[in-house]
Amino acid sequence: MIEEAIRNFKKGKPVLIYDYDDREGETDIAIPALNVKPKDVAMMRIDGGGLICVAISYEAAEKLGLPFMHEILEAASSKFSSLKNFVKKVPYDSRSSFSLWVNHVDTYTGVTDLDRSLTIRKIGEAVEKVLNGEDFDFANEFRSPGHVALLKAAERLLEERRGQTELSVALAKLAGITPAVAICEMLDEETGRALPKEKAMKYAEENGIPFVEGKELENYLKELNLAL
Ligand code: 5RP
Ligand code: CA
Repeated sequence: MIEEAIRNFKKGKPVLIYDYDDREGETDIAIPALNVKPKDVAMMRIDGGGLICVAISYEAAEKLGLPFMHEILEAASSKFSSLKNFVKKVPYDSRSSFSLWVNHVDTYTGVTDLDRSLTIRKIGEAVEKVLNGEDFDFANEFRSPGHVALLKAAERLLEERRGQTELSVALAKLAGITPAVAICEMLDEETGRALPKEKAMKYAEENGIPFVEGKELENYLKELNLAL
């Protein structure tokens, strides 16, 4: 299934990424950011229903000057003391991967399928440019707060953190595409919880989308002795 997922990412098509039974136990719809169209945002919000974010590699975020949100809150708490205690441990990992929330400057409200897909593609372009060594003034092209959450992957990817942030960036790197991936959790309206793995697998089969688990991706990397 990993090879099929890599093939889909190379073509800019979706993959479903489940993390781990002992972590969130969630499945995210993942689509390479450069290929996200309005219909893909609609699919993520209707069939996924979670938060639509863009995971980018640590190197790209550093080059674009994008800190983690917890770093921003820690720095701002010297001016606004009420912000100090917001940074807490999350129950499923050592920290969250959230960075800024942004809209591209050419969007209007920022939330429509047209607007969010534009913001997502433009994030993909920014990541592509900065990793190609081009100068890129991120603040000139985006405003914050906005309607698309940026997620910054851990520097050592899966060796350091096992979230969909890292799993989607690792899959993008394996596919040799720009490491900027739109992701959205699949939720279950029947239970009010995350969509169970079995239901996500059924959705994957019915829609011809590859379904990969974190453990499969880790095993694949180990077998090939690949470090990303
Ligand atoms: C943003 C999230 C999601 O869980 C998303 O899958 C990325 O987070 P993580 O890397 O922690 O899995 O928190 O909606
Ligand atoms: Ca997740």
